[in-house]
Amino acid sequence: MSSALPATFLWGTSNAAYQIEGGWDADGKAPSVWDTAYRNGSLRVRDGADLGRAADEYHRLDEDLDLMRDLGAQAHRFSISWPRVVTDAEGHINESGLDYYDRLVDGLLARGILPAACLYHWDTPQWLEERCGGWMGRESAEQFARYAEIVAQRLGDRVDQWYTMNEPSHPAMAGYVAGFLPPMRSEGARGLDAVHNILLAHGMAVRALRSAKVSGRIGTILSVAGVQPATCNPADVQAAETARRSFDRLMLDPLMGKGHAPLIREQVQADGACREGDMDVIAEPLDILGVNWYSNMYATTPERAPMFFESGNDNEKALHAFSSMLGEGNGVAIVPGPGRRWWSPRGFRQETPGGLRATVEWVHESYPDHPRIIITENGRGTAYPSAAEGLTESTESTESAILAESAGETAEDAGQLQASLNDAVRIRALAHNIRDLHALASEGIAVDGYYVWSNIDNIQWMDGFSERFGLVHVDAATMKRTPKDSFAWYRDVVRHNGDLE
Ligand code: NOJ
Repeated sequence: MSSALPATFLWGTSNAAYQIEGGWDADGKAPSVWDTAYRNGSLRVRDGADLGRAADEYHRLDEDLDLMRDLGAQAHRFSISWPRVVTDAEGHINESGLDYYDRLVDGLLARGILPAACLYHWDTPQWLEERCGGWMGRESAEQFARYAEIVAQRLGDRVDQWYTMNEPSHPAMAGYVAGFLPPMRSEGARGLDAVHNILLAHGMAVRALRSAKVSGRIGTILSVAGVQPATCNPADVQAAETARRSFDRLMLDPLMGKGHAPLIREQVQADGACREGDMDVIAEPLDILGVNWYSNMYATTPERAPMFFESGNDNEKALHAFSSMLGEGNGVAIVPGPGRRWWSPRGFRQETPGGLRATVEWVHESYPDHPRIIITENGRGTAYPSAAEGLTESTESTESAILAESAGETAEDAGQLQASLNDAVRIRALAHNIRDLHALASEGIAVDGYYVWSNIDNIQWMDGFSERFGLVHVDAATMKRTPKDSFAWYRDVVRHNGDLE
């Protein structure tokens, strides 16, 4: 295949502060809501991984930067930990925290890698939660804009892409509507205020970055599930449209100037959360839109679901949790699609070849004036230990057997390490998606880059190291880094500008 991708196409990697850094209280850092939930035991970590240490990049920065240079990455997206930079509601600035990100940005540039900074990847400061109820309080938006300005003043001359947030629907919905992620508040419909406030915070941060005259492009990052009807039956087509309101349109509609979905609008107006002018701030024009994509979701009706039925996964859980927004009897069920499934701690995940293309096409058709797009995350998880790989269903018994196996582990088991390094499944999945980038380019849809999640194994939130996405293996006990087969493969992809032949 000869490359249809422009020479300026950016091949990169992605990571996030909480998942990689560790150093949870190092050098004056304040706790995030994740640190609090982990420390007080309200968060059960599946494999007992130490979330406060994560992959310890805070203490191994040069080693990880050298690995990125060896990979040939042209851009790297990282997130900045808000509570590492601002340590209380009075706005105290932790200079050591800013120094760390200075070193990270300079270290990337010195290795010829463009820095792409994301200001928020779910690690809300605990002090914000205590001050105003986190994203439930309108003050959160002002605090976030102030933080954006502080970071802009320090790094504004050297960052190539600024992203205000990563998948803001997740902390808002899972954190305040459904309550299954920190700060674990099940506010039901009232939690929709958090959706409004987080969007407002985004818009105010965009304005703060612009007034600080940062040199890079400014945007945000959304997870786009690319909801598809399970079949072409009109009931499924309708179910997909309904499900899009909870997933794909939830953030895209207001950001692209189309306003909140009716149920959200009613709720935030009734609560007094939405004030005059807010929707303009939220729809502040962007230079760039980061799209995170892993696989499509397939929608049908509850009555038709048994035709496709397979034990539930995270998507179903999210759908049920979010149903307070859709209203009772919303008439949607999420079912497995036609792709290859693999075991994941979350039930199952699936590959949906062609899905990246379909998803970006949907964005392009639904929002013709969308900003230029970068695929800011795409990856393939593998279970660790790998005994779980290949299972298509998670049952309590298989899951506990796998966990029992990992619990006995202290240092790296040689067989497990080898299985993790020979990650042909990751290579195959990424190759499908890179083919989609060529297809999109030939259709003239402007995608400017593609970042693999992730350059290195990291903490998959409460699943610890039990599901891994890295091109580099991390020994959870010793923190030793070892490149996987996919590392050399992706290095060639970058060298040949995505030409897979
Ligand atoms: C989405 C999130 O941004 C990231 O934190 C997570 O680890 C990956 N997807 C994989 O699930």
